Amino acid sequence: MNTLPDLPCYLNGDYTTLPHAKVSVMDHGFIFGDGIYEVVPVYGGRLFRFDQHMVRLTRSLKETRIHNPFTAGEWAEIALKLVASYAEQTVSKVENTDQMVYFQITRGVALRDHVMPTDITPTVFAMSNVLKPANDAQRQQGVACITADDFRWEKAHIKSVSLLGAVLARQMSFDVGATETIMFRHGHRSEAAASNVWVVKNGVVIGPPKDHLVLEGIRYGLIEELCQAQGIPFELRPIRCAEVFTADEVMLSSATKEVLPVTRIDGKPVGAGKPGPVYQRLYQGYQLAKEATPTSAPAGS
Ligand SMILES: Cc1ncc(COP(=O)(O)O)c(C=O)c1O
Repeated sequence: MNTLPDLPCYLNGDYTTLPHAKVSVMDHGFIFGDGIYEVVPVYGGRLFRFDQHMVRLTRSLKETRIHNPFTAGEWAEIALKLVASYAEQTVSKVENTDQMVYFQITRGVALRDHVMPTDITPTVFAMSNVLKPANDAQRQQGVACITADDFRWEKAHIKSVSLLGAVLARQMSFDVGATETIMFRHGHRSEAAASNVWVVKNGVVIGPPKDHLVLEGIRYGLIEELCQAQGIPFELRPIRCAEVFTADEVMLSSATKEVLPVTRIDGKPVGAGKPGPVYQRLYQGYQLAKEATPTSAPAGS
């Protein structure tokens, strides 16, 4: 049996541990996948780009018509408590002290009905866990990806816990030993199962528009800032399938991957078949941004 580790977590006002955190079977998150989530990286105890995560969390809750039970400051307080407990519990056992805080808010507990119940209290769960970075081989050689049709729903901009489409897509790449599944919808590239995707052509970093077909990763804003700081042209526009296969470089981005070079797609090399110069510059910039994260608690806490 897969037993849960005794890691600290938060559930509906209580600080407990994973094996003791229990939710009703009538929770709308369990019954309908009716809820949203966030994943915040934490470097050396500092929450990375927390304000941006709060903006996205608020947007996802508004779109799903779930009440936001906390202020940004209260969310930060929960996060920092979990980060401290996790560090206390594990610091001697793991070398890597970077963490990621997971927040999940579901509509709450009510008898099963598709119509949104009124007077319902959202279920709030949070935990922190180790942030596993990409390994040296992935950074030096790049990773392989496969492609597939984007068969997910058309509200990909909501960071919803209804992730079956993403689970099926990611498994397709896992089954063939690849790192991600890059998806296409109506002839244009959307994103990967759990990452945004960037192409580089003639020195320009290009991502798809921030519309309902992609989740606007927190790295959207960060990559734009890094490009601006380094004088790299940056563009958001629809990207045709062919542009992915003829790109000079392709990169994934997410909270855990940071920016990660893709050097093979569907078994064929991307560009020169090795991590490119634009990736190297963005990765360096990313590391500086991590170091520059303020040590103080986020505003409002
Ligand atoms: C579908 C999808 N797109 C993009 C991302 C990247 O978002 P972020 O940069 O905020 O981690 C994720 C992250 O989980 C994701 O699941």
